[in-house]
Amino acid sequence: KILILDFGSQYTQLIGRKIRELNVYCEIHPFNHFPEIDETVKGVILSGSPFSVRDKKAPQPDLSKIKGKIPVLGICYGAQYMAHFFGGEVAPSDSREYGRAKLGFIDHDCPLFQDVSLHTQVWMSHGDTITKLPENFKVVASTEDVNFAAYKIDNELTYAIQFHPEVYHTTEGQQVLKNFAVDICECEQTWTPLSFVEATVKELQKKLGSDKVVLGLSGGVDSSVTAVLLNEAIGSNLTCIFVDNGLLRKDEFKNVLHSYENMGLNVIGVDAKHKFWNDLRGITDPEEKRKIIGRNFIEVFDAEAKKIKDVKWLAQGTIYPDVIESVSVNGPSATIKSHHNVGGLPEKMHLKVVEPLRLLFKDEVRRVGKALNIKQELLGRHPFPGPGLGIRILSDVTPEKVRMLQEADAIFVNGLKNWGLYDKVWQAGVILLPIQSVGVMGDERTYENTVALRAVASTDGMTADWVHLPYDFLAKMSNEIINRVRGINRVVYDISSKPPATIEWE
Ligand code: XMP
Repeated sequence: KILILDFGSQYTQLIGRKIRELNVYCEIHPFNHFPEIDETVKGVILSGSPFSVRDKKAPQPDLSKIKGKIPVLGICYGAQYMAHFFGGEVAPSDSREYGRAKLGFIDHDCPLFQDVSLHTQVWMSHGDTITKLPENFKVVASTEDVNFAAYKIDNELTYAIQFHPEVYHTTEGQQVLKNFAVDICECEQTWTPLSFVEATVKELQKKLGSDKVVLGLSGGVDSSVTAVLLNEAIGSNLTCIFVDNGLLRKDEFKNVLHSYENMGLNVIGVDAKHKFWNDLRGITDPEEKRKIIGRNFIEVFDAEAKKIKDVKWLAQGTIYPDVIESVSVNGPSATIKSHHNVGGLPEKMHLKVVEPLRLLFKDEVRRVGKALNIKQELLGRHPFPGPGLGIRILSDVTPEKVRMLQEADAIFVNGLKNWGLYDKVWQAGVILLPIQSVGVMGDERTYENTVALRAVASTDGMTADWVHLPYDFLAKMSNEIINRVRGINRVVYDISSKPPATIEWE
């Protein structure tokens, strides 16, 4: 495997994904929590950073432990820090070192640049530049403005590049990463979805033995893949619980339950709509709604799980971005993101936790799902928030509002599918606004509700842009919703990006 030492760059996870795309396994660790280098580690990548090496607070780990002993690739800050650490000079550069550049010189004897073409485009993004290399350091690539775009250390497998090979705009970046991981580090390209499934099934069998496991299904990709993987490993010792919180999409409870049963899962559906609706009555504050929904879920799930004799484990669909320790930009201290799909559940239930997807990125979860023969229909589903329609009904939740929103949402989502737009959108849904306005229907004046349609493009939900849906499509959706959903007389389209807006309205 390859270890990636994270100095806090926004691109660190991308490096990880690009290495994994080569079917080479890698792990990301904060620079100040670096694990022992044992024989399974074939190479180390030093990431970029928002810091300058001249910054007092900049990450400054001791590199002498790895330099010369194992292949190393420094990227951006990693390259500058290595030069700085071993006696070179790094100084502020002018603004030309942002954006596209071309490699006007490449040393093709250097294994890092095998099969990389001269004049290839690379992406620079740094405020500093290396002005002097230490002794024994040799330039292996330059651009017009950046003399030391890449260097290597004589008689060592230590390399560094000041551009970012992991981003899309570095045209042959993947070749550079492949040269490093596969040729220089000699990693085998055997990390595939299928090999992951085989290894994980074995591991789970060993870890769980004949213990019983319980899992909360949500209809989403992560929990579904977790369930199928565990089902392969331990079969009927896995019990899945799927709760109808009264805030799911139209017919979702019925349909998803049905498809889980078809997949051979041992699944219990619990209809708890009225409990959720009762507790939400009159509540308008979004955070309070989230708490009530979360608490109710735990109660319902716990009561159901208690009916199963001798359960020892709680399975969760946690994925890698949730468990990577993130490097804080406010100082070189590592903070742990504490995201749980169902916060508080393990503590309350006194169960041991098993998270078979905790080392996978989202796109890998989908590929593993495919290797497990899960239907594309399920794997390609848009993300849907845990509190469901509860946070898409602004203000208080009532069963009547849920009905209205479910109808409108179904028209919109089915419309996207029928028009071939669903897979072009990252997430879509309808929001019921707490606004009534005047309309005319036939000869009568109406005073009814407004819904907003939301469709965004994104890769991880952290940033998002609204999608330019065709006018014809929007016109059709507006007509259908107003004509078919009792209680709605106005439809608007949300054209805000995140930031500064958010994807959800609450
Ligand atoms: P925002 O609205 O913050 O949403 O731009 C980003 C992503 O997170 C989802 N989201 C939630 N998911 N519980 C969840 O499980 C929540 O309380 C919650 N709030 C927002 C949202 O749907 C989007 O995918």
